[in-house]
Amino acid sequence: VEIFDTIAPLREFVAERRRGGGPIVLVPTMGALHPGHGACVGLGRRIEGGTLVVSIFVNRTQFAPGEDLATYPRTPESDIEQCRRWDVDAVFVPGESEMYPSAQRTWVSVEELTDPLCGRVRPGHFRGVATVVTKLFNVVAPDVAVFGQKDAQQALVIKEMAEQLNMPVEVRLAPIVREPDGLAMSSRNRYLSPEERPRAAAVYGALLLGRERIEAGERNPARVVEAVVRHLRAAGVDEIQYAELRDARDLCTLEKIAGKVILAVAVKVGKTRLIDNAVWDVDETGGVADALLF
Ligand code: PAF
Repeated sequence: VEIFDTIAPLREFVAERRRGGGPIVLVPTMGALHPGHGACVGLGRRIEGGTLVVSIFVNRTQFAPGEDLATYPRTPESDIEQCRRWDVDAVFVPGESEMYPSAQRTWVSVEELTDPLCGRVRPGHFRGVATVVTKLFNVVAPDVAVFGQKDAQQALVIKEMAEQLNMPVEVRLAPIVREPDGLAMSSRNRYLSPEERPRAAAVYGALLLGRERIEAGERNPARVVEAVVRHLRAAGVDEIQYAELRDARDLCTLEKIAGKVILAVAVKVGKTRLIDNAVWDVDETGGVADALLF
């Protein structure tokens, strides 16, 4: 694996690989790599003849004041080792001044899609994400970029940004990877104490309960969400930031549960913020099938 901490040599490496033919594939991450990232890398690795680049950068501009920027896990050595085991071609680990050499005054903002869910709870978050991902796309010039479905709203935002700004990149999604107890893999899971773990796992239980209600014929989104919230409260999660059922294509609210829908949840267990979601295709006859966002 080649390691780059500056832009210029990485650009040369990518240009060289491009001359050799085959697509450039980027998996952007903030490090503390886990099997969820592994699913993104695996999907990228399967692209015929591709050169796989993983970026590792804890992006300060997507954290609001008071969030966990200072304590966000930073494990660059073991991340690079992991990339080696995953057979990644290049790792980009830039420092702060490489990505933000001057006070940032140019921003990328995606409207509407960023209003609900995490956008409501974390003002400015998606502006930071869209801006850094644009920078990474400009640095690496990938043909394909892979993101995880756990950050469903982020994936929709980046896909729309790439389409609407004519970025020549195809955005692909890797499915959520879960721990044996159902907890979605996340770099933040390492903050959880053994005592908090069962409460964290209740989030997945709440998603399953939502599915059960829909399978049993419930088509009123508010009633499904009510059951989900009751489950989370009973499990003792410390704070429910949101639990919502929305249209999975544009995150609009639903009158009735039908078509491709997303049940998205954000909670706090102790000090740890966890997000999770399930996307289902709900057909006319009442069938509910797991689906990818896109
Ligand atoms: O999902 C993440 O890890 C980050 O939001 C991303 C896409 C790497 C941007 O900093």
